[in-house]
This record gives sequence, C-alpha cells and structure tokens, in this order.
Amino acid sequence: MLEKIKAITAELENLNATTPEAVEQLRIKYLSKKGEISALMTDFRSVPAEMKRELGSKLNDLKNLATEKISALKDSLSAQADNSASDIDLTRTATPIPFGTRHPLSLVKNEMLSIFASMGFTIAEGPEIEDDWHVFSSLNFPADHPARDMQDTFFIARNPVDVLLRTHTSSVQTRVMEKTQPPIRIVCPGRVYRNEAISARAHCFFHQVEGLYIDKNVSFADLKQVLLQFARQMFGPETKIRLRPSYFPFTEPSAEMDISCDICGGKGCAFCKGTGWVEILGCGMVDPNVLRECGIDPEIYSGYAFGMGIERITNLKYKVKDLRLFSENDVRFLHEFDAAK
Ligand code: DAH
Repeated sequence: MLEKIKAITAELENLNATTPEAVEQLRIKYLSKKGEISALMTDFRSVPAEMKRELGSKLNDLKNLATEKISALKDSLSAQADNSASDIDLTRTATPIPFGTRHPLSLVKNEMLSIFASMGFTIAEGPEIEDDWHVFSSLNFPADHPARDMQDTFFIARNPVDVLLRTHTSSVQTRVMEKTQPPIRIVCPGRVYRNEAISARAHCFFHQVEGLYIDKNVSFADLKQVLLQFARQMFGPETKIRLRPSYFPFTEPSAEMDISCDICGGKGCAFCKGTGWVEILGCGMVDPNVLRECGIDPEIYSGYAFGMGIERITNLKYKVKDLRLFSENDVRFLHEFDAAK
C-alpha cells in the first residue's frame, strides 16, 4: 500500500490538463467514490492495527494533495478563460480615433475661393497633364519662349504633340474659353509643376489660383477693385495694394500686385526687405490674341486675368519660412493650423 501511495503522489506532482474536461477526468480518476484514493481508503480498513497510524496520515496527505492539485488546475484554466474573454469585450467603449485637420494649403485655398465666390466667381478645374497648346501656344507664348525649355517644364511626351505637366493654372482659362462664350467669371485652383531644384523657396510642384473675367466693357478698374477687395478680406481691412507694370505673354497691359507688409504695417522690415511691400500676384487685361485663339471676338469682349500661388499667400498669412514643410506632412507642423480650421 505504501508503494501505491508513493506512485500516486508522484503522478499528482506532475499533474497537468489543458481543458476543464480533462481536469474533471482527473478528479474522477483520483477523488470520486470509485477513484483510486477511495479504493485505497477501502483497503485501509484491512490494514493491521499497528500500521494504521502511519498509513492513515500518509493516506490523508495524499487525499489533500489530490484535492489541492486538482483545484489549482481548475483555477488556472478559468483564469486563462477570463483573460481571453477580456480581449474581446464587445461592451467596452471603442478607443476614439482622433479627427485629422485640414492642410494649411487647403484652408487658405478654401478661404480664397470663398472670397471670390462672394464676388460672383465660380470654380473651374482642368487637367494637370496638359498639351503645349493649352499651357503655352493659346496663351500667346512665342515658340522659343524659355518657359517651354526642359529646365522649366516637365515633358511627358514630345510626339506627335508635346504632353507636359502644366506649369501654371492659366491653362484652365483656355479650357473654359474654348468651350464657353462670355460672360465668363471663374477662379481655377490647382496644382502646377516646374522643373526646379527643391529648396526652402522653390519646389517642383506648388498650387495656384487663377482668375478670369470676360464680358463686354471689362476694364482695368474692374480688375483693380476685385483685387483690392480680395486683399482686404484675406489680409485685413487696412491692407493697401500697389500695381507695378510687368510683362506676361497672355495679358496686355500686365502688372504685378504687392500688398502692404502686414508685419511692419508698411514701414519696412526684414520680411519685406525694407520696402514695406510684398508681391502676391500677377495680373492684366487678357491679350486680344488669346481671346481670338480661343474663339472669342476681342472686338466685342474684353477681360482681365490674375494668377497667384497658394503657398505664397499661405506664407504671408502664417509666416511659413520653408516651402518644403507643406509637402513633408510632419504632423507637428500640420497641428499648428488646428485653430485656423
Ligand atoms: N501664370 C502666371 C504664373 O504662373 C501667373 C499669372 C500672371 C496669371 C498674370 C495670370 C496673369 O492670369 O494675368 O506665373
């Protein structure tokens, strides 16, 4: 009997089970009425009296050990079950996903567009992959104009026609004029591409908003008023504008527009390089050649156009010093504009 007790003790020391059913089997095997330990208890009755004391206590220890081991197995299995259940607690509130915010260029673009919308402009868009005619020829660029040069323009194909990434949104003017007769009053936002080395001040892609108004009797005074209202709404009611004569192939006369520097209020500072003015756009009266090329009679209609960089306006408004920040998607930079949305 002593041998039997030792053998069962050894078995109990190495007891193992991975399912509740297996634990129950072990309980039946050792502790049930027909189990091995009960059998030993029955045998115990016929043990000689002088051995009863020693064997009795060993048998008790055995029974305690079996009870302890089996309940420990039960506990560890049910603890495991609890843990795996908590991983898929469907009643828990979901972890919130933080909302993103708008990109600063989108914020500024939307603001620009809504200012022009309030003055009666509608939005027109065109393709980024263009042909030479829409980007250059229709806009009165001579065949040897340097903008066509490989240095400036990304060409995609050169035969049978030049296919290229548009270098400005003025191509959308052409796209609208060739299909629509005046009155036309549009703003055209979009991405443009130029073959430039990337630096803090230049990038190979950026964004523009183009404006075009064509009707009977449109004059330079109309252009000036619209741009003044735009500048005041965008940069504050105290903003002054200044138009300087300039040259673009598609406008005649052409001008560049400056606004008074809002850092020094026009007195002159490092930002405006001491001049009190910062340049924000190009503009002019649409060249009659352009109207004619697009099927609009310049004897009946006249119009103005303007074009500006969204990055430039954003830099002026938010004083961003490095253009590359706009396309790096560093969330620390992007979150600086959370309050502006
Ligand atoms: N397309 C010019 C550029 O990319 C900007 C521009 C200047 C657009 C004068 C115009 C304009 O419509 O009249 O630099």
